[in-house]
Amino acid sequence: MKLIFEKSTPGQANDILPANPLISQYAPPTEALRANAPRLPEAAEVAVVRHYMALSRMAFGVDNGFYPLGSCTMKYNPKAAERAASSPHFTDIHPLQSQDSAQGCIEVMYRLQEALNEVSGMGATSLMPAAGAQGEWVGINIVRAYHAHNHDTKRTKVLVPDSAHGTNPATAAMCGYEVVNIPSGPDGLVDVDALEQAADNTTAALMLTNPNTLGKFEKNICRIAEIVHNAGGLLYYDGANMNAIMGVTRPGDMGFDIMHWNIHKTLATPHGGGGPGSGPVGVCKALARFLPTPMATFADGTYALSGDDSGGIKRAKIFYGNFLVLVKALYYVLALGADGLKEASMRAVLNANYLLRALEQYSSLRYDSPCMHEFVLSLDTLKEQTGVSAQDIAKTMIDYGVHPPTMYFPLTVGEALMFEPTETESRQTLDDMANIMDKIIHTAKNDADLLHTSPYTTPVCRPDEVKAAREPKLRHYDH
Ligand SMILES: Cc1ncc(COP(=O)(O)O)c(C=O)c1O
Repeated sequence: MKLIFEKSTPGQANDILPANPLISQYAPPTEALRANAPRLPEAAEVAVVRHYMALSRMAFGVDNGFYPLGSCTMKYNPKAAERAASSPHFTDIHPLQSQDSAQGCIEVMYRLQEALNEVSGMGATSLMPAAGAQGEWVGINIVRAYHAHNHDTKRTKVLVPDSAHGTNPATAAMCGYEVVNIPSGPDGLVDVDALEQAADNTTAALMLTNPNTLGKFEKNICRIAEIVHNAGGLLYYDGANMNAIMGVTRPGDMGFDIMHWNIHKTLATPHGGGGPGSGPVGVCKALARFLPTPMATFADGTYALSGDDSGGIKRAKIFYGNFLVLVKALYYVLALGADGLKEASMRAVLNANYLLRALEQYSSLRYDSPCMHEFVLSLDTLKEQTGVSAQDIAKTMIDYGVHPPTMYFPLTVGEALMFEPTETESRQTLDDMANIMDKIIHTAKNDADLLHTSPYTTPVCRPDEVKAAREPKLRHYDH
């Protein structure tokens, strides 16, 4: 497809309506004009609209089709939540206006804090961080503040299981900690003996997500918590997978001291594409003083944003978090209620197990027990037999109108494809996915070469993904 610059034809702009006479009447003074006209494309209005409509159809979102991107929870978000957040009562406010004129907005924040405490079992929650990764950064800085407060300066290590999401070791390293890798056992769970050997008086914290990124529940969590706490460390919960356990169990009850939420995954707000997201941080009561402030409070019939910045890490972000994302989250929590949140988690797990049973025949990694909200297939046997890789299979799904699952993650599994169907997909969609996989595997066995150069329905077939991420060319002109 041509760029809009390439479609530009001089004199084509504004060909529908006559020129606005006011423009010449109120022309800016000559000294305010730039020396050279900007190099903007010239195209008729209809051509511009068609160009951008065509571009928008090239993007794939959950509103276009099935998006089982493991670890990312690309579920459908009810449009009613968007409607709530677009109310002028929430959009036409300013973060610096007086608190007594924004009582309703502060109430939203207060009620969401309370709801998150209830669902997570934590003692206090700050809504400030803007993403899961920023929540991790806040959380690990709370770890640091806690140990500093106790004058315990020898704790220089953060333990991270090898199945962890990349942001966990990255966060620990960014916060100045040495990352210690804890291996998984053959069952995909944290190797408890290895953890026991690693945990000592230099351990600041263990970062863990449960269910883990293989979609397995860390059933030894109570023992894990005991080992870390006995060593004097804190237990950090990566809450990206909260949508698998809401209403069933709680990080606070499992022994975690600090956690972040990925509101933009769990509580029905858009995810991906650069945000805005929200990664609230919850802590047990003993650590509440280290949370970033201000927090929403309620006393004597008045809501307030309070905090004296004397805590551990003060601010993490300007103002109070991504407020409209928080509105959507509260809407979703209130609309579903306690039973509905539990039902959402149970459906997420049910859907994942349904799809796993349909697809596990292609995998050399077998689950001997049900999975949680996501699962990983290993296609290394298929690759050995046919030369077709997990990437070839994933790319071919695009031609069938499905977004590929996460590829090559976790790193501990060869030729990994990680599926997370989410709670919002129907049985029909899951059956369709199973049929698509069946067709693609059939092609892999009979006409493998066809899959090495898929997809065939996109403008670019196989971009250099590293280059596209690290050195994107986003400008038409090179200056
Ligand atoms: C397990 C896990 N932890 C952390 C993150 C980071 O969250 P965010 O993308 O909001 O920064 C993700 C994101 O997908 C995740 O899956």
